Amino acid sequence: MNFETLAIHAGQEPDPVTGAVVPPIYQTSTYKQDGVGGTRGGYEYSRTRNPTRTALEDCLAALENGSRAFAFASGMAAEDCLLRTLCQPGDHVLIPADAYGGTYRLFARVLTRWGITCDAVPQTDIEAVRAALRGRQTRLVWAETPTNPLLSIVDLRALAGEAHEAGALLVTDNTFASPYLQRPLDLGADAVVHSTTKYLGGHSDVVGGAVILRDATHAGDLAFTQNATGAVAGPFDSWLTLRGLKTLAVRMDRHCANAARIAEMLAAHPAVREVCYPGLPGHPGHKLAAAQMRGFGGMVSFRLAAGAGKAVDVCGRTRLFTLGESLGGVESLIEHPARMTHASAAGSPLEVPADLVRLSVGIEDADDLLEDLRQALA
Ligand SMILES: Cc1ncc(COP(=O)(O)O)c(C=O)c1O
Repeated sequence: MNFETLAIHAGQEPDPVTGAVVPPIYQTSTYKQDGVGGTRGGYEYSRTRNPTRTALEDCLAALENGSRAFAFASGMAAEDCLLRTLCQPGDHVLIPADAYGGTYRLFARVLTRWGITCDAVPQTDIEAVRAALRGRQTRLVWAETPTNPLLSIVDLRALAGEAHEAGALLVTDNTFASPYLQRPLDLGADAVVHSTTKYLGGHSDVVGGAVILRDATHAGDLAFTQNATGAVAGPFDSWLTLRGLKTLAVRMDRHCANAARIAEMLAAHPAVREVCYPGLPGHPGHKLAAAQMRGFGGMVSFRLAAGAGKAVDVCGRTRLFTLGESLGGVESLIEHPARMTHASAAGSPLEVPADLVRLSVGIEDADDLLEDLRQALA
C-alpha cells in the first residue's frame, strides 16, 4: 500500500468487538489476566505495552518502512533510550556540526558523564566525515537532514556507506522531513528517530518521540530499555499522534507549497541577507534534496542584512506567525534560534548565527503569511 493509505490504515483495523473505526484510547495501567501469566495479546502493564501505543507504533513502522517502532514521551526520551541501548561507556559518536541543540546537549552534558564521547563534523562534507571516522572505534554516526535550524542537506546514502565501512551504525533524525518527504531506512540508515511533537503530531497539542528500526537486530534490546527506563508515550498522547498521522501527507504538501512561496519572497527582499531553504535552486543541497526527498519541507530560515538586533525585532513584529518554539504544526511559528531553541548551543562549536530567524511555515493561506512577513520586515 502507498503512504497515504498506510497513514490511515496501518495498525488501525476497526475494533473487533465494537467495530469502532478509530482505535480507542486504552486509558488503563493494567490488564486482567486469565490465570497467572495468562495475558490477552501480551498486554500486562501499560509501561510495557498498551494497545493505543501499539497502533501508533505499527503505523510509524509502516510509514518509515521499518521492522518495528517504539513510541516515547518526547523526542529526547526516544533519543536517550536509543543511545543507551546501542552505546556503552567508551563508545564514540559522530554528530552533525549543526545538530539540534537539545541533541547536542544530551551528548555534551549528559552522555559524556557516562563515558560516551562525541565529535561534531559538518556532514555535508563526506571527506570530513571519513577523516573523523579514521582510526576511531565509532559506534554511531548521528545524522539530521534537513538540519535544524540551518537546513543543510546531508547525503544519507553516502553517509550510510561511510558509517558501515567504519563498522558504525547510522541513526537519522527525520523530524524535519517526516517519512512523507524522506525515508532514511530506504537510503541505508539503521534507525530513525523523530520528535513526533512536530509534523507527525502536526497540531502543536502533544509532545512525543519515536524510534523506528530497519531490522530486528536491536529490537529486543530497545524494547527492554524502553520498559526498564519507562519514558513511554501515554495512551492519549499516542492517540493524538495517530490522529495527526492520518493527514500527514496532505499537510506536508501544503507546508511545502507555502514554504516555497515564502522562501522566494524572502530571497528577493532587500532586508534579507541569505535564505536557507533547500527548495531554492541556489541552496548548496538543492540537487541532493531533489533526489533524496519528495518535497523540500516547511521550514525556512533566513539571515537579516541589518544583523542580530533586526532579527529579534522581526520576531516580535509578526501578527500571524506566532513567536514560539517548536515546529511542524498547522499554524505558522517564528523564532530566534540563538536565543530560543538553540540557546543551549551558545559558546559551543554548534552556536548558531545571531542574525538568523527560523520559520515553521504552517498551512494557512500563503498570501496572508506573505503579507504578515512583509509588514514585519518593513
Ligand atoms: C530535530 C529535532 N530532534 C529532536 C527534538 C526533540 O524533540 P522533543 O522536543 O519532542 O523532545 C527536536 C525538538 O525541537 C528537534 O527539532
